[in-house]
Amino acid sequence: MKIKIGILLAVLLGSVLVVLAFGQYEMQVVENYYFPNPQRPPAVFEHDRHNETAELWDCMICHHVYDEQGVQSDWESSEDQACADCHGLEDQGGMPGLRKAFHQSCKGCHLTERKGPVTCAECHVKP
Ligand code: HEC
Ligand code: HEC
Ligand code: HEC
Ligand code: HEC
Repeated sequence: MKIKIGILLAVLLGSVLVVLAFGQYEMQVVENYYFPNPQRPPAVFEHDRHNETAELWDCMICHHVYDEQGVQSDWESSEDQACADCHGLEDQGGMPGLRKAFHQSCKGCHLTERKGPVTCAECHVKP
């Protein structure tokens, strides 16, 4: 009986720890595993903190959805998809290839806003 309660407690404690660990998970970088031979360290991007500091409350700013005419939806967002789910490695019509898509989105906004990093080493920070 005592052993069984011990095991039960251990399992419970284990689950609590797992929930705590994953609850505190926050994206720190944009992963680069979609690129066959990454040349640079992954770009630093603390998703939630970045978006709070930059006051980007609208997910569609980055996680966009376009219709067949190339018009961006003003209500639908694609935060459940990776950029690479739509953007291939190469340009495709009006659709920039993956690397260009990231650079246009990230650097583009930093340049327009005159805030946020625009040089390679500021984003691709060596670990
Ligand atoms: C505003 C941030 C930002 C800046 C500035 C930036 N990048 Fe990137 N870059 C990214 C992100 C995000 C990706 C997507 C994958 C990743 O995290 O590496 C990426 C991807 C890449 C890739 C494809 C993945 C790889 O590692 O091969 C290359 C190459 C690259 N960048 C080179 C550069 C170079 C060279 C510069 C400077 C001229 C630069 N980047 C500036 C954010 C940035
Ligand atoms: C400044 C651009 C930007 C904004 C704004 C933004 N995201 Fe993201 N988000 C990203 C990028 C970049 C990724 C990584 C995509 C990839 O790897 O292909 C990402 C990944 C995610 C993921 C994937 C899971 C993860 O954490 O690894 C979720 C979920 C997500 N975002 C939800 C949201 C929601 C919800 C909002 C609005 C409250 C939002 N995002 C706003 C850029 C943004
Ligand atoms: C559901 C599919 C889909 C996803 C997911 C997606 N895109 Fe796109 N994106 C498109 C399409 C389609 C276009 C081309 C629109 C056009 O025809 O002009 C586009 C265009 C772009 C452009 C050029 C036009 C513009 O808006 O500046 C950039 C930059 C871009 N995407 C970056 C990203 C980034 C970064 C992510 C991930 C955070 C992402 N996209 C996720 C479908 C997608
Ligand atoms: C729509 C605008 C916008 C987009 C898109 C955007 N940023 Fe930013 N970013 C900002 C602003 C504004 C700041 C400056 C925030 C401040 O300190 O006031 C910033 C700051 C940063 C910083 C400095 C540290 C920090 O986290 O505040 C990094 C690193 C960064 N951005 C990376 C990225 C990467 C990588 C992407 C693309 C995945 C991206 N940003 C997309 C607006 C944007």
